[in-house]
Amino acid sequence: MALYSEKVMDHFLNPRNVGVIENADGVGEVGNAKCGDIMKMYLKIDDDTISDVKFETFGCASAIASSSMATELIKGQKIQDAMKLTNKAVAEALDGLPDYKMHCSVLAEEAIKAALDDYYEKKGN
Ligand code: FES
Repeated sequence: MALYSEKVMDHFLNPRNVGVIENADGVGEVGNAKCGDIMKMYLKIDDDTISDVKFETFGCASAIASSSMATELIKGQKIQDAMKLTNKAVAEALDGLPDYKMHCSVLAEEAIKAALDDYYEKKGN
């Protein structure tokens, strides 16, 4: 079996929603101390819905594919649903990741949660 699924390769080679949102409503940055990879998520939120999301990831192929897939999964979703996104769901949507690469998908979950925390902090609740 190939190391990466076709979906991982597709999202790695053609990542969706790469970039920065100026004046984002929430920004989350997380990193993995072991591998040194860093992921930053930007959210635009209107009416409790994620109307736009972009990311910058300085990391491995799995981290880039995970961020790309995660942005697709939460775009257009209500905040409450985006909050529930798990790294497992991201990995499943990518048709799986090798076991030793699962931590890369954890970064995507954490980055989204950090961005939502930032949003709530800015809003003051
Ligand atoms: Fe660090 Fe993938 S090896 S996020």
